[in-house]
Amino acid sequence: MPATGRGAAGRSGSDEAPGAGPDREGTELEAETRYEAVVVGGGIIGLSIARELAVQGVGVALLDRDREKGGDATQVAAGMLAPVGEHEFGEESLLPMNLASAELFPGLAEELETATGIEVGYRRQGGLHVALDRDEAAVLERMADLQEASSLEPHRLTPSGAREVEPGLSPSVTSAVLAPGDGAIDPRLFADALEADAATRGATVVRGGSVNALLRDSGDVVGVETTDGPIESEVVIVATGAETGRLDWLEPGELPPVRPVKGQVVELRVGEGAPLCSRPIVTERVYLVPRPDGRLVVGATVEERGWDREVTAGGVHEMLREAYRVLPDLAEASFLGASAGFRPGTPDNLPIVGRTETPGLLLATGHYRNGVLLSPLTGAAVARMVVEGLEVAPGMEAADPGRFEVRAGRT
Ligand code: GLY
Repeated sequence: MPATGRGAAGRSGSDEAPGAGPDREGTELEAETRYEAVVVGGGIIGLSIARELAVQGVGVALLDRDREKGGDATQVAAGMLAPVGEHEFGEESLLPMNLASAELFPGLAEELETATGIEVGYRRQGGLHVALDRDEAAVLERMADLQEASSLEPHRLTPSGAREVEPGLSPSVTSAVLAPGDGAIDPRLFADALEADAATRGATVVRGGSVNALLRDSGDVVGVETTDGPIESEVVIVATGAETGRLDWLEPGELPPVRPVKGQVVELRVGEGAPLCSRPIVTERVYLVPRPDGRLVVGATVEERGWDREVTAGGVHEMLREAYRVLPDLAEASFLGASAGFRPGTPDNLPIVGRTETPGLLLATGHYRNGVLLSPLTGAAVARMVVEGLEVAPGMEAADPGRFEVRAGRT
C-alpha cells in the first residue's frame, strides 16, 4: 500500500494523494524504502518532531510499534502546561526551555485547529496552587519565593481571593498562588491534531511495525530494519519515551539513562451546569485539570516501580481523597476511569535531546514531567538540527545527550 509521505529522498513515487492521512480507518500504511529522516516513536515528542520536519519540507517517516495511537505517556498525561507552577529547586536549566516552549503553544494550537479542525483544548488561564493547612502553606510560600527569585511573578491570593477566582474551592483553603501564564491542553487531541497535520504536510505515519535494528554503515546510522523491511534514512531520531533506556536495537553504549517513572491518573466527568473549576488547581499532592468538555483529570502519582503498570486502589484513593479535599463538589462527579503510564525520567530531570556520538543517530527523550510542555520546542529544535545540520539542539543546549556520555558503539 502506498505511503502518504512526500519529499522522501530518492524514494519511489507514490500515487496516493498527499494528505491522505494516517491510519485513521484501520488500514495500514507502508513506509517507502528511503527518507531523509525517520522518527521512531509516535508519542507527542515523536509526532511534534515529525510534524515540524514535514513543515520544513523534509521527507520524514514516523514509525510506532503500536497499532493504536501510540505514546504511552501521551495517552495518560493530564496536559498541564506549567513552567511557572512546576518550577522546582535545582531545575534552573529546565526553566528557560519550559518557558520558551510554553510560548509556542498559542500559535501552534491555533495552527493545528485551523489545519485539522481538531480542537485541542488549549487554555491559558494560569494555574491556581492552593494550600489547605499550615504545612502546605509553608511549602506554597517557598514555591512562590522561588518563582519570584526566578522573575516569574506569582500572584499571591487570600483565601477569599482564591474563591473569587475558583468558587468551587473548599472553605478550608488557607492560601493560594496563581501561576500566571500556565495552562493546559488535551494531550490526546493534541496528538491527534499533530498526527493529522503531519500527514497532511507529507509525513508518513506507520503504526504497528517494530524496529528490529539500526542499519549501520561503517558505524554511521543509515536507517532502520523494521518488521516490514529496511528503511534507509539520513538520520534516525529515537523518541520512544521511557522505553528508550531499554531498546535492544541500540548498542549498550548508546542507551541513554532513561527510566520509567510511573504515574497514575483518574478521569472524572462533572455533571451538567457550571464546571467545578475553570483552570488547573494544584496542591502539594495532587493536581486537577479541567477539560473543555466537562471531564476533569486528577493526577498524578510519581512512583519509582520499574515497569509495573498496575492501577492501584491506594493510588486512586489518595488522588480522589486529595481532590475532594480541594473541590468538595467533586463527590458528585462520575468516575470515568483510571490509568497508569510511564514518564521517561533522567538522572538530572532534564530531557535528552540531540545528536549522539553515533553519526546519524539522534535522541529526543527523557522529558520526564514536561513532555507535553516541551514538545513544541523539541520538535522545532530537532527539525532545525536536521535541516541546518546543527550539532546541538538550539534552545535545548542543556539537554544535550553528551552530558551523559551517550557513546557510539564504534571506537
Ligand atoms: N507534569 C505532571 C506530571 O508529570 O505528573
